[in-house]
Amino acid sequence: MCGIVAYIGYKQAQPILIKGLQRLEYRGYDSAGISILNGSIKTFKTKGKVSELENHIKNKNTDGEAGIAHTRWATHGVPNTKNAHPHFSKSKSLSLIHNGIIENYAILKEELVKRGYQFKSDTDTEVLVNLIEDIRINENVLLDEAVRIALNQVVGAYAIAILSDEHPNTLIAARKGSPLVIGIGEGEYFLASDATPIVEYTKNVVYLQDEEIAVLTRGEDFKIKTTNNKEKTPYVEELEWNLSELEKGGYEHFMMKEIYEQPRSIRDSMRGRLNTTTGTVSLGGIIDYEQTILAAKRITIVACGTSWHAGLVGEYLFEDIARVPVEVEYASEFRYRNPIIEEGDVVIAISQSGETADTLAAIELAKKKGAIIIGVCNVVGSSIARASHAGSYTHAGPEIGVASTKAFTAQVTVLTLMALRLAQLKGSLSRTKFMQLLMEMEALPTKVEKVLNTNGLTEKIAKKFKDVENFLYLGRGYNFPVALEGALKLKEISYIHAEGYPAAEMKHGPIALIDENMPVVFIAPRLGIYEKVVSNIQEVKARKGRVIAIVTEGDTMVREIADYVIEIPETAEYLMPILASIPLQKLAYHMAVMRGCNVDMPRNLAKSVTVE
Ligand code: G6P
Repeated sequence: MCGIVAYIGYKQAQPILIKGLQRLEYRGYDSAGISILNGSIKTFKTKGKVSELENHIKNKNTDGEAGIAHTRWATHGVPNTKNAHPHFSKSKSLSLIHNGIIENYAILKEELVKRGYQFKSDTDTEVLVNLIEDIRINENVLLDEAVRIALNQVVGAYAIAILSDEHPNTLIAARKGSPLVIGIGEGEYFLASDATPIVEYTKNVVYLQDEEIAVLTRGEDFKIKTTNNKEKTPYVEELEWNLSELEKGGYEHFMMKEIYEQPRSIRDSMRGRLNTTTGTVSLGGIIDYEQTILAAKRITIVACGTSWHAGLVGEYLFEDIARVPVEVEYASEFRYRNPIIEEGDVVIAISQSGETADTLAAIELAKKKGAIIIGVCNVVGSSIARASHAGSYTHAGPEIGVASTKAFTAQVTVLTLMALRLAQLKGSLSRTKFMQLLMEMEALPTKVEKVLNTNGLTEKIAKKFKDVENFLYLGRGYNFPVALEGALKLKEISYIHAEGYPAAEMKHGPIALIDENMPVVFIAPRLGIYEKVVSNIQEVKARKGRVIAIVTEGDTMVREIADYVIEIPETAEYLMPILASIPLQKLAYHMAVMRGCNVDMPRNLAKSVTVE
């Protein structure tokens, strides 16, 4: 997601900032910008790569010993120069960069518009910088106090850095929900989203905590206070990591980093959409099309790869919760088979990248036939997002590992919210059941944290099976798509042949493969038709197959017969795919690492498939 770099001291700021942005490139972004303070504030912004920004400023005067810089991963407003950070206040006295999402920005903006402010971008960030200026002028307070008052009015997540031409020796930073690290040099300060841009200048860092504001003044000790106006003593830590480790946040591979990001990415997918206090679900992006979706006789889901698996979970969810008939189609098949789509039909297109050529073509075809397209994409402003009539972003953040992990769980989260919203409008679930589900959803990120903490169990299992040539994954109901996704993860990155199957279908073919060399992964939580899955496990054991089972905490029945069990917390049946898919991601990861495969960039695969 977005990257922040800032500097104040006695060196030229520009080279430090540009190099810092380059170090943060791995995070993924779509535009970049820089502000340098030297008397007044000069700002330069470009769409695209940091190298383009570098070219853009090549022959310009960027002298100055203080500055802020940013790489933006669009959330509010499409990726373009206008929406790129830094953003100015009305008087041009303040320049601000921001990571995160200000959820109540629309209300704040309305107030500011009434007071004569005009906005040049579509961003929530421009609202924040003007809010700070408005408070500073109208309440006649110092800048750090204006920042504090403004942040108390903000709902959402932020990491910010502010330059002011009225305070040329000071840089102000604050965080809530999005990380910020302060590097302490000789009379100088560095600031960044993670320590990557800082580590070559200093090893002494302070990790800013939520709701803390830092005032960094050149040549002086720095101060930290909370948004509640309490002074804090900074806790200075010494960095132990080297650069290459830091880029991946200490993980060996992006895939593992992304697996571990899931508590946060799932939370981000639900942020501002799920409200357990009012008992409502709202998806701003589809609000204008809710009646159309409700009126549709059926919904067709089109997608490829992992996104298709998320679509399959969506089919179970929409039919079960919202009682709408759903068909899930491979986009590549759909586009060439003259599908029956009529005026007013609803097509949901799911895509992490938003650029998959087959999915895009499927959309265009459905559109020509009169369908309404609802996009579920991760990349803001991507082609599929733009080609859709409406949609909901998954907000998982950039996914770099080719094998999709956090994007999948975010897609399933958004589809669950959509199904719940329809159920709310249709009244297809009892109020008690609806509320139970909302509460369960809210608890999901914490349960995901628990699932991630398997204490080396998936690694141990991987060690045991790393040299096999085949794997079978079986599940029923909501867990059948999980079986497919588990098998896909394994074959993508470890090159072991793996097949996913509905557990009961096993007897119509795959059972012939089972012998003492065949590992079979069962997704067998104590939900739905659990006993029938237990019978399927017995059938595998009777043929000497080796069983790895994903079970609910405290399970005894499966534990007695399976070779290995991985426990996951209890949750509603509808939400089990999110929890159950995580140990399978970890299993595939460890197997691939032990087999010496290139986990993040597996052979022959691409992250974004823009050809058919
Ligand atoms: C590629 C990626 C997969 C992804 C699929 C669909 O094959 O390697 O991880 O699931 O494309 O991509 P999309 O961006 O449309 O979700």
